[in-house]
Amino acid sequence: MSVTSADVAVSLEHVCRTYGGDQPVVALDDVDVRFLRGTATAVMGPSGSGKSTLLHCAAGLDRPDAGTVRIGDTDLAAMSEKRLTELRRSRVGFVFQAFNLVGALNVEQNILLPSRLSGERPDPAWVAEVVGRVGLGDRLRHRPAQLSGGQQQRVAIARALVTRPEVIFCDEPTGALDTRTAAEVLSLLRSAVDQAGQTVVMVTHDPVAASYADRVVVLADGRIVRDMPQPGAERIAEHLAHLGGHESVAQPVAQPVARPVGRSGAQSFAGPAAQSLAQSLAQSLVRATARPTVRGEG
Ligand SMILES: Nc1ncnc2c1ncn2[C@@H]1O[C@H](COP(=O)(O)OP(=O)(O)OP(=O)(O)O)[C@@H](O)[C@H]1O
Ligand SMILES: [Mg+2]
Repeated sequence: MSVTSADVAVSLEHVCRTYGGDQPVVALDDVDVRFLRGTATAVMGPSGSGKSTLLHCAAGLDRPDAGTVRIGDTDLAAMSEKRLTELRRSRVGFVFQAFNLVGALNVEQNILLPSRLSGERPDPAWVAEVVGRVGLGDRLRHRPAQLSGGQQQRVAIARALVTRPEVIFCDEPTGALDTRTAAEVLSLLRSAVDQAGQTVVMVTHDPVAASYADRVVVLADGRIVRDMPQPGAERIAEHLAHLGGHESVAQPVAQPVARPVGRSGAQSFAGPAAQSLAQSLAQSLVRATARPTVRGEG
């Protein structure tokens, strides 16, 4: 079956991103990839291989130095910051590696923030379903500082799902979750794809999480080195082991989704630019809600 442009949810063509400074770092080196509508893709690879940078560029949170990024047929480079912000609010959901919750708001307010910013009234039944499935029903009045790392991660996931965006980008969405909660979150993402036809692009280090995807794209040193239909957790772990060189790449399959609860994504959030992006997003959310303080997760 041939792919038409209408089937493509996100495309990156020849995308390059180098971080400046005395010693420039090439985070993305001529990346070409398309993510099809109604599919889930896992993006894997060693720490520092460019996964978060890829997600940030694809979601319009960062601008590449070269190349083209499109969401649907919208070319992001041609857009003003204002229009880009609107596009991110209406068409994209993003689960940050460091969660980026707004500390001054409680769980329910965080989850409803994107809808509030875009002036929409979310369907209460859908909100209740998302909240229930991520297991936050009894925490709605808590603030992020009163939650565990895993609970904060689930708020971030609920926040990304509630507006039913075309594309959901998730940067290690199960990094702080126990096995059972991770499975629930992954099946929620899976049903966004299977039932609602949304597109999921998910960075993960975990072969079991990746096995929920239809396809696995592997990055190394800013380049795509493998692109394969989802081959099963065991084969994914083998592929990653062959890349070698980093202990965080291949998790033993015998310990699915085994990240200790409470390990905050903030600890592994890479790069000052990514952090300042995250912070500026959080700040703009706070400004938009006219509240004075932010909990800096990054
Ligand atoms: N602001 C920055 N300034 C300089 N280098 C940066 C900056 N942000 C990221 N980098 C570098 O770019 C490369 C890619 O970073 P990125 O955060 O995309 O990696 P990653 O694959 O998401 O890693 P991890 O699995 O640890 O989250 C890394 O070498 C990183 O150090
Ligand atoms: Mg990262």
